[in-house]
Amino acid sequence: MTNVTIRVQRFNPDVDQKPHLDEFQIELTQGKTILDALHEIKEEQDGSVTFRRSCRHAICGSCAMNVNGVNMLVCDAPLKDFVDRRGRVTIRPLPYLPIIKDLVVDRTSFWEQYQRVKPWLLPPDDVPEKEFRMSPDEVKALQDAEHCIMCGACYSACQVVAMSKKYIGPHALLKAFLRVLDPRDSAPGERLTDLDQGDGVFRCHTIFNCIDACPKHLNPTQAIETLRKLVMKRQAFEAARAQRQQSLDQPISVE
Ligand code: FES
Repeated sequence: MTNVTIRVQRFNPDVDQKPHLDEFQIELTQGKTILDALHEIKEEQDGSVTFRRSCRHAICGSCAMNVNGVNMLVCDAPLKDFVDRRGRVTIRPLPYLPIIKDLVVDRTSFWEQYQRVKPWLLPPDDVPEKEFRMSPDEVKALQDAEHCIMCGACYSACQVVAMSKKYIGPHALLKAFLRVLDPRDSAPGERLTDLDQGDGVFRCHTIFNCIDACPKHLNPTQAIETLRKLVMKRQAFEAARAQRQQSLDQPISVE
């Protein structure tokens, strides 16, 4: 039987001045995830250990944490893969966000930025009789953005977010990208104007931390690059959108 040391960052705002690490010994068994280990600690050793989780299937995004310095979904992380040479695994909350308790962070700024980009569809007054038309390239680009589960791993790995919570952030920019390229949306020009503000697409430093952190292997940096190009040719993009339904042979380029 092999035991591993799980180091969990603890912080109770009612009694602690600053966070500290508590250590727990648990058995390393086949198939055990880091989330399983946290459950075992909570059920058998210390019921006050606090963390978020829901689906346990890498879908809801609520279990995003920082393990050995890397943001990830702990329900999708085999424990054996993260044991260091000293037989330890270190679990901390997502960085750069206020800690509510132990591994639970305050995601208010994350959701405020998401709301800011109006991630919902703004449909036109006149809908076409048959269909909205899209090019295969657009479909592929949008499918990537659709797979974002809003876990916050990219947001809290972003160095620009670390400096300013006014920055829209990679998660919300990816969702803005989704709506800007959506042929059913009626407000791509207004959306691009908002993204052109000082805390918008041009604030990204292209550090790629968001790509490294994304547990779904998405590419927010590429979406931000595309949005930058569209911001700079906004009028041409809007004109092309207006012509959209006239021909299947004239798809809007996302390059
Ligand atoms: S518990 Fe839902 S993504 Fe991990």
